[in-house]
Amino acid sequence: MTLRSKFRAIITTTAAAAATAVFGSLVVTPASAQFVVKGDVAKGQEIAGKVCAACHGPDGNSPLAANPSLAGQHAEYIYKQLSNFKSKDGKPAERNNAVMAGMAAPLSDDDMKNVAAYYSSQTARPRAARDPELVKQGQLIYRGGIAAKNVAACASCHSPNGAGLPAQYPRVGGQHAEYTAAQLKAFRAGERKNDPNGMMRTVAAKLSDREMAAVSEFMAGLR
Ligand code: HEC
Ligand code: HEC
Repeated sequence: MTLRSKFRAIITTTAAAAATAVFGSLVVTPASAQFVVKGDVAKGQEIAGKVCAACHGPDGNSPLAANPSLAGQHAEYIYKQLSNFKSKDGKPAERNNAVMAGMAAPLSDDDMKNVAAYYSSQTARPRAARDPELVKQGQLIYRGGIAAKNVAACASCHSPNGAGLPAQYPRVGGQHAEYTAAQLKAFRAGERKNDPNGMMRTVAAKLSDREMAAVSEFMAGLR
């Protein structure tokens, strides 16, 4: 069992300012509603193998660009997304996706924690960036934002190497560029609106298609 598989993830449900993280033991957040998730990696692996592997890969490195990689993603982020894909009490799901709605619906709360712990314990395989021109432009945006448009640097929340910051800020480094660009467009269109305090909608609203493609391409090669 890895250290990661044993960690107790604290899920922050509020959009608190950047959390101070001490990974492996606990996540300290500013006073806010938080609860503890403890996942069973072996049980999670079983679910992943039976249900999720076809699309996300047995180890969370997804073979197809439309399906996000989950390897090394923070357990608390995976758990949050699975919860968001579920419609609760007859209300529409907070994150709308027909495929994942069907996948999340039968999972119990424990199932979600277990599968989150499993994929989080896996190692993301690096991906090579393809278009050097796009990568260069994307790197500027990722590291420095776009001052003229008041776009914050992605690195300020997702960390300089794309590893993110548990519990709130997901890993984005090494993700398929197609998936990343699709999410940015969904945030811009307001089709995805499960980001706390509209943090990502605010950022994406100001990005052009070209800027989205550039930053996505850069992030795919980030590690
Ligand atoms: C038929 C293919 C398919 C299967 C099977 C599937 N997924 Fe997905 N999953 C997707 C797609 C496509 C998306 C992207 C959804 C979107 O665009 O919003 C996704 C998104 C996700 C996300 C959000 C990731 C992120 O970075 O925000 C999580 C978490 C996830 N899936 C977990 C699972 C788990 C756990 C299982 C198994 C119980 C599973 N998926 C089974 C296709 C699949
Ligand atoms: C103020 C903090 C903040 C900044 C700045 C920020 N993000 Fe995010 N981002 C978030 C949060 C929080 C989420 C998770 C939303 C959720 O819970 O679903 C997120 C999610 C994402 C996702 C979805 C990941 C996935 O797996 O589905 C992508 C892609 C992303 N951000 C890209 C970017 C890019 C590109 C930039 C810079 C142009 C950026 N972000 C700047 C806070 C930020």
